Amino acid sequence: MKILKTIEELQEVTSSNKTKTTGFVPTMGALHDGHISLIKQARNENEVVVVSIFVNPTQFLPGEDLDAYPRRDEADKKICEMCKVDYLFMPDISTMYTEEEVLIKAPNNSYVLEGKTRPGHFDGVLQVVLKLFNLVQPTRAYFGKKDAQQLTLIQQMVKNLFLPIEIVPCEIVREKDGLALSSRNVYLDETQRKDALLISKALYSAASLVGKSELKASALKEKMQEVMQTLDVEYIAVVDRNFNEIEKIELKNSIILVVARFGNTRLLDNIWL
Ligand code: PAJ
Repeated sequence: MKILKTIEELQEVTSSNKTKTTGFVPTMGALHDGHISLIKQARNENEVVVVSIFVNPTQFLPGEDLDAYPRRDEADKKICEMCKVDYLFMPDISTMYTEEEVLIKAPNNSYVLEGKTRPGHFDGVLQVVLKLFNLVQPTRAYFGKKDAQQLTLIQQMVKNLFLPIEIVPCEIVREKDGLALSSRNVYLDETQRKDALLISKALYSAASLVGKSELKASALKEKMQEVMQTLDVEYIAVVDRNFNEIEKIELKNSIILVVARFGNTRLLDNIWL
């Protein structure tokens, strides 16, 4: 595996692999089994695999955890090596950004849910992902359904900007007990970690109601609120796959999303139905 730090090194790799299929997995590091599943899928489906690790400052709002965000470069390098990644791109901030930048404006549907709580977050995500896409020019890029709104906006960007890239949605990887893996889970203390289980429990109980033909969003939300009554729930939303709120689940076109707060840590999870 080659570690690349500069734009020039990465561009050289990209141009020398033009005739090969390239799978790309953008990350912010502190890699866990969720990231690894994306990397493995990329490895299975492409001749060349590129992973990026870059804690992107433009997607953090003032006061968020940019400085505290877990950084584990050495462990991450080992993980990528074990997953047979060909190229690991780990740029510095000054490599990715100059002082004056053209901004990407995420569409209006980015200002609901995550985008409402974190206004401007998705502008930063799209900005860095577009930069990375232009550098890597992948055949396929892999994103987790865990960040459902991010995945949807990236699909929309690729479509709107006519980028010749296939976006591959990947299933959510969970701990054995149901907690969705996240780099931010390290912030949880023992009690919070235990309480956090109620999030997936609530989603499963909603899915089980849907299995019994209860499709009304209000009934599903009520059930979930009951399961999570001891938590500081920021939102429960039932949306279609374009992120419009819906009153009734439309099978194969719906997502139920939850965000709950544990001290300063926000955990998000969802289920695609
Ligand atoms: P990061 O949070 O590191 O996540 C990188 C990728 O891993 C994303 O596509 C995310 O959805 C996926 N992922 C995270 N946890 C997962 C889980 N439990 N199961 C499956 N996939 C999971 O998302 C970002 O970084 C950044 O916003 C980025 C796209 C890299 C732009 O900076």
